Amino acid sequence: MTNVTKNIKSVKVKAPIVEALKEAYENPTYQFHIPGHTKGNGSLPEFKKLIGTKALSIDTTDEFDNLGTLHPATGPIKEAQELAAKAFGAKKTFFLLNGSTAGNLALAMGLTKKGQRILTNRNCHRSVLTGMIISGAEPLWLIPKKFDDWGIWGNVTPESVEEMLSSHDDVSMVWLTNPTYEGVVSDIKSIASICKKHKVPLIVDEAHACLWNFSKHLPTPALQLGADAVVHSLHKTGGSMSQSSMLHIAEGSMLDVDAVEKALKLLHTTSPSLILLASLDAARANLESTRGKKQLERAVANAKFLRREIEQLEHIHDLKPDFGYMTDVTKIFIRDDRLSGKRLESILEIDFGIEVESASDAGLLLLSNLGNTRADMEYLVKCLQKIDSSNYSDIYYLEKKKHMPMLTPQIKMSLREAFFAEKETVPKDLAIGRISAEVIAECPPGIAILLPGELITEAHLPYLTDYDFIEVIK
Ligand SMILES: Cc1ncc(COP(=O)(O)O)c(C=O)c1O
Repeated sequence: MTNVTKNIKSVKVKAPIVEALKEAYENPTYQFHIPGHTKGNGSLPEFKKLIGTKALSIDTTDEFDNLGTLHPATGPIKEAQELAAKAFGAKKTFFLLNGSTAGNLALAMGLTKKGQRILTNRNCHRSVLTGMIISGAEPLWLIPKKFDDWGIWGNVTPESVEEMLSSHDDVSMVWLTNPTYEGVVSDIKSIASICKKHKVPLIVDEAHACLWNFSKHLPTPALQLGADAVVHSLHKTGGSMSQSSMLHIAEGSMLDVDAVEKALKLLHTTSPSLILLASLDAARANLESTRGKKQLERAVANAKFLRREIEQLEHIHDLKPDFGYMTDVTKIFIRDDRLSGKRLESILEIDFGIEVESASDAGLLLLSNLGNTRADMEYLVKCLQKIDSSNYSDIYYLEKKKHMPMLTPQIKMSLREAFFAEKETVPKDLAIGRISAEVIAECPPGIAILLPGELITEAHLPYLTDYDFIEVIK
């Protein structure tokens, strides 16, 4: 206990929202404002007991207790955003509620216009596309290489970006996902210089890579490689609470920061949770601290340990960090050559009490996180060893549905036009040959199966087993 306290003292890093919230907690006022549960007095006792009185006492929004405001950023919130910008090497950082989804929507709303063409990878997250539906911009698809054995998308090559920009002079922005969900990394440095040559900005959706800035064992972050703007889901791997993310604008970028900020203001709640904002502040402070750095190095070491152990197995394999494309070592995609990814997931969950990040047709994704201990990893290894030496077999119903959409779209109408067109709902089997009017992109990974304006074909059916009806253009 003494040692822990000592450690905390030695790694103290400035966290203005955390400090302001602590100050408010220690100096309570008589509260005649929202939230109406009033420090938990009006909450269901069972919930209060579960979440803790303290959590409810600090559940407040940005108009009270000298905590500053989010829009415009003032007080501790402004200071915390500035500290985050410095930590991530950005000109400007915005804290996001509603995840990186809010960041992608704001970038699209603020920076793209009706009819503009945006070069983007087909395996982008649906929030990028929803943003384009709102603004009226149209995706121009880059179709990365697919690795069928692993059932995953590969990287975006600089050559494919050069080719598309050379043959389409109406592209006004390049917007890439890096890394992929499974950790496959693209050569952002070369792509950024191609974008500069063609005078188009580059946005990188780095939702899964907020840790890269804090370890030399991880790939170089896009803000250091010439991207103009980046989103980071701090809540995914950075240690903040669910739903909290950051949007960074790069030093030297010519993007219209005001337009992005205005869009964010429209998209955000007018009652931002101080707990979520404080968790972003705390996550940044932790990553900058000696303790956070140690946690991250432990996550990298744990990932390497897990990969070394998997190497010894007969049937279970991991996607190697050097499988031909750079990968993030902390994202461990594995497959069992006898089982589907979904079946392996269900065995881990039901027989061993292990929950993984996601599973698809071929394999599943494990994250070696800041908070995982070596004991966690050793337990996981033991379970994988048991599975490897057992005779588990696949189960048919788990095989019927496909999960990782890897289809090449047939576009018949513009995204926005189709989204707002007159539509009707038809039974799935009658939808073949019709044009989709809805976004179908299940999470995870949130990659499009079908978008408004795309032809529905037989190839879509294995991805649509949970759908009885589909919305199509009338
Ligand atoms: C590549 C990518 N971008 C954006 C998002 C949206 O992130 P959030 O869940 O923080 O809204 C996700 C979510 O999975 C994602 O995978």
